[in-house]
Amino acid sequence: MAKVLVIGGGGREHAIVEALSRSPQVEKIYCAPGNAGIARLATCVPIKDTDVDSLLAFAGKEGIDLTVVGPEAALSKGIADRFRAAGLRIFGHTQAAARIETSKEFAKRLMFKYGIPTASYRSFTSYEDAIGYVSGRPFPAVLKYDGLAAGKGVVIAADLPEADAALRDMLLDGKFGEGKVVVEDYLEGPEFSFMCFASGSRVWPMPLAQDHKRAFDGDKGPNTGGMGAYTGLPFITDQDREFALHQILEKTAAAMVAEGCPLSGVLYGGLMKTPDGIKVIEFNARFGDPETEVVLPLMDSDIYDIFSAVADSVEPQAGPVWSDDVTMGVVMASRGYPGNYPKGIVIGGLDKVETSVYHMGTAKDADGNIVTAGGRVLMPVVRGRSLDTVRDEVYGAVRSIRCDGLFYRTDIAHWAL
Ligand code: AMP
Ligand code: GLY
Repeated sequence: MAKVLVIGGGGREHAIVEALSRSPQVEKIYCAPGNAGIARLATCVPIKDTDVDSLLAFAGKEGIDLTVVGPEAALSKGIADRFRAAGLRIFGHTQAAARIETSKEFAKRLMFKYGIPTASYRSFTSYEDAIGYVSGRPFPAVLKYDGLAAGKGVVIAADLPEADAALRDMLLDGKFGEGKVVVEDYLEGPEFSFMCFASGSRVWPMPLAQDHKRAFDGDKGPNTGGMGAYTGLPFITDQDREFALHQILEKTAAAMVAEGCPLSGVLYGGLMKTPDGIKVIEFNARFGDPETEVVLPLMDSDIYDIFSAVADSVEPQAGPVWSDDVTMGVVMASRGYPGNYPKGIVIGGLDKVETSVYHMGTAKDADGNIVTAGGRVLMPVVRGRSLDTVRDEVYGAVRSIRCDGLFYRTDIAHWAL
């Protein structure tokens, strides 16, 4: 029986911990740092996800058999390299492989070298060169800061003044630190998330999901980390999926092997169905959040098998098995998110909810109440046979949670319904 350590403390990690808690091979789960929901299934350890030294010491001391990494920040710090060097088993990419997410230019260069479909681009280090290039091209202009910017490094500029302001921020004012800017063609079409487990050139696909990035109904308002997600996308055909699997995910895994930085974790394709076919908008080197909360409840096999096989670079006894049910989840976020918001507001009604509620940002206060502790706070998720029925159920759960400080979108899955 195994002891497992999960790194991270959001809804994604709650879904990972829950999937592990269903495994007959797992005896004990730790989560660093975890949250109030995770604490019901795992022992939470107050160590930050980027404090690699302390995590390493903890895993050694507790005799952890397998560590599973949630956030990219830990991967970009080289947590997988450090654990492996210490002889500890870990599910997560090396620092070099995580560049598929942490460096936009690395990802773009790889896609062009290996013929993986994506928008054309040029990269710049000089503000003058960048503004010169952008002013001679059609708008909107897509400007991506090259480096980890917590999802805030992409600007879709409608006109020249907006592009100028963004390029100044990125290249002159050092708002994000020293870096480059990738300018790419503007693409249009529905976006979807295609995640797979990846080990060397082998990939095991997960069900497709769609996130909702804007804060408000009708895809209005500022970009967020994601306000809800569902599976069972009617606008992606089997043929589209096959194309994305073979021409994007498998090709990318093989390309990473050829570049000498093989994958060993989750490869997340942020894809768009454009009039010219499926193209890559971005890659992530980790599970998506909130996609994981709607995808992992569909796994009908033991998640410990695939985590172990990837960590050990061996073939699993059998690949993951997925239900053909659908799922939907609605994110309940703090009023003010993605800007400033208060914390510590008491949440009631959680004990009345029948469905799973993933905790994204919660804590327990001194009186034992569950309180808000982040921008995204809770995500009820329902699994069922059709999106119509799961939608009614999931919004029923949302309405039975009582908290003055939260808001949510009422139109999750509007693309599908
Ligand atoms: P990213 O962080 O690269 O996923 O970009 C954030 C969001 O910006 C994406 O989810 C898209 O909605 C949008 N976006 C990024 N690149 C493009 C592009 N080339 N054309 C149109 N929209 C884009
Ligand atoms: N839901 C988008 C992401 O995880 O990056």
